Amino acid sequence: CGIVGYTGFQDAYDIVINGLRRLEYRGYDSAGIVLEDTTNNNFNFKKTKGKVSDLVQISEDLKGKFHVGMGHTRWATHGVPSDRNSHPHISNDGKIAIVHNGIIENYDTIKTMLLSKGFTFSSETDTEVLVNLIQYVADTQNLDFTSAVRVALNEVYGAYAITVMHKDYPGVLVVGRLGSPLAIGLGNNEYFIASDASPFVEFTKEAVYLEDGHMATLSLENGVDIRSIKENEKIVPAIQELKLSLEQIEKGGYEHFMLKEIFEQPKSIQDTLRGRLLVNEGIIKMAGIWDHLERINKAERIIIIACGTSWHAGLIGEYLIEEFARIPVEVEYASEFRYRNPIITNKDVVIAISQSGETADTMAAIKLAKEKGAFIYGICNVVDSSISRYSDAGSYTHAGPEIGVASTKAFTAQLTILSLIALKLGKHNGNLSNAEFMNLITELDNIPKKVEDVLNSTHEYVKKISKDFVSATNFLYLGRGFNFPAALEGALKLKEISYIHAEGYPAAEMKHGPIALIDENMPIVIIAPKKGHYDKIVSNVQEIKARKGKVIAVVNYGDEQVSSMADYVIEIPETSECFSPIVASIPLQLMAYYIAVYRGANVDQPRNLAKSVTVE
Ligand code: G6P
Repeated sequence: CGIVGYTGFQDAYDIVINGLRRLEYRGYDSAGIVLEDTTNNNFNFKKTKGKVSDLVQISEDLKGKFHVGMGHTRWATHGVPSDRNSHPHISNDGKIAIVHNGIIENYDTIKTMLLSKGFTFSSETDTEVLVNLIQYVADTQNLDFTSAVRVALNEVYGAYAITVMHKDYPGVLVVGRLGSPLAIGLGNNEYFIASDASPFVEFTKEAVYLEDGHMATLSLENGVDIRSIKENEKIVPAIQELKLSLEQIEKGGYEHFMLKEIFEQPKSIQDTLRGRLLVNEGIIKMAGIWDHLERINKAERIIIIACGTSWHAGLIGEYLIEEFARIPVEVEYASEFRYRNPIITNKDVVIAISQSGETADTMAAIKLAKEKGAFIYGICNVVDSSISRYSDAGSYTHAGPEIGVASTKAFTAQLTILSLIALKLGKHNGNLSNAEFMNLITELDNIPKKVEDVLNSTHEYVKKISKDFVSATNFLYLGRGFNFPAALEGALKLKEISYIHAEGYPAAEMKHGPIALIDENMPIVIIAPKKGHYDKIVSNVQEIKARKGKVIAVVNYGDEQVSSMADYVIEIPETSECFSPIVASIPLQLMAYYIAVYRGANVDQPRNLAKSVTVE
C-alpha cells in the first residue's frame, strides 16, 4: 500500500492525489483521501474501490479548498477490495482518521476487546481496529493525540506504517513505522509524508526516513518531533538530501513505465558498473566486498535469499558464484527459508537481493539469519531501504527508480552486481587466472553496448511477432545452464502482465513432463545462444518440432541450426555464457510487454500484484 500526507499552505488535495499516483505501484485496488477543514475541524472523506483515477472521479469537489490531508492506495490484505474496506478509516467517535500500510497481526484479540466495550466496525480491516484502539486508549487513559497513538502502537504487533489525523488537533499529523517504510519531507512551512520520497521530490530535497520503531508528530507550530515508540525517547532526526529527480519518476515520452525501463537498461547497467569495473586498471572495486573479503571468501556456503524476480537473479547468482568463486551457493525463497528452521551458522554468508529493499519476507529471513550469526550482504536498488540498512555490508544496484510493477532494469542490474561479486571473489581466491579475469571483465564492460544493440535490432521484430500470440493460453520457456533462470524470468514477465499462463523449465527437463503439453498451439520460447550447451538445445528443438510445437528461438547473430527449425528467430549479440542471461532477457521483456499491450492489459499495474510487498 502507499501512503501520502500533507500539512502546509498548498492545496492538500493536489499533493495527496498526485502523490498517490506516484505510489500506485505499491497497490491499486482501492484508494481514498481525507482532507481537514481547519476552519471548523471537519473531515472530508472520499474513498472507493479501484484506482486513484477512480478516486479523482468522485472527489474533485474537494480540490483547492484544504491544506491538511492524507490519502492511501491499497493492496488488499484483510478484506476484499471494496469501498468499505478502503482507507482512510475513522474511529467510532468520528474524531480520528488513519491510513495504514501493513498488517496488524493481533487485530482479532483487540477487536474482541473493543467489541466488548461497545465499539462497532463497518469494515473487515485490521486498520479500523487500530484507529478504534487509539480512540479507546485516548478516552480511557485521558491521553493527548500523540500519546494515544504511542500507547496503542505498543499494544499491537505486526507491521505498519501509519499516518493519523485528529479533529481536535487541526493541522497535526502523527506517523509511525514498524516494518513498512515512511519518509517525511521537510519543506518551508510545510511537511510531507509518503511511503517513499517520490510524492514530494518537486517540493523539497530534505527528507527524514523514519526508522523502525519510531513515530513522529508533525505540526507547523512545533515542527517535527520524533520519538521511539517503546521508550518515548526523543530522537534527533537524520536529515538526508534527496537525490531523486522528477524526471526519473516520469514516463518521459514512453507509453508505459515498463517500456521506458526496458529501454533504460544500457544506462542502468552502465550506472551499476560505474566506478566499480575498472578495465584499464584490471580491477573490480567494490567497497562492500573488499572490506569483508576474508569473511566472504572464507564462507563455507553462501545462501542467496530473495522473492520473485530477485529470486531469479539469485539463481543466476548461484551459477556465477559457483563457477568463478567455487563457493557452494544455495538459493532460497525468503518465505520458505524463514519458516523452515533452516540450518545457519556463523560461517555462512547470506546475500539478500531485493529491488525495493522492503520485501517483508526477505527482511524477516535476513533477521533470522543474522540472529544465527550469518553475515548479511544486501543487494538493493532503493537506497536506504530497510534491507540495505539492516545488512552488514552490501552493494546498491544503481538502476534508478523502477516504477513498472514487472521488474526489468532492476533484474539486469542485479545480474550485473552478481557478476561483479563472483568475478571479484574468484580473482581473489585464485580460482580465476589473471587472463580469464581480464577476458571476463572486458566482456562485462561491453554488456551495456550489447544491450543497446539488442534493443535496437529486436524491438520492431518482437513488436511485430507479439501480435501472433495475443490469443495464446499457454507458453513454455526453456533454457539451459545460465539461461535456465532466464527462462523462468521470461515466463514470469509474461504471466505477470499478460495473464497468459507460462512456465519456465530447464530445456532438458522438458521431456520429464512439459513435453506432454506440446502441440501445434503451444508457443515455446527457447534461449539458445552459441555458448552454453548449444548442441543439446538443438536436440531439444528437434524434440519439440517433432511434436509440432511453435518455436520462438533466441539465438546469436548468424545462427543456422536452431534458426532453420524455429518458427520465429530473435537474434541477439554473442557474449560469454555467464553474461548471456542479461542480453537474452531483453527481447523476452519486450515480448511480454507487447503481448500484454495487444491484449489490452494494464502493463504498469497488472491485476492483483504490487511492486513492493511489505506484508508476508
Ligand atoms: C513483488 C514484485 C516483483 C518482485 C518481488 C520481490 O512480487 O511484484 O516484481 O520481484 O516483489 O521484490 P523485491 O523488491 O524484494 O525485489
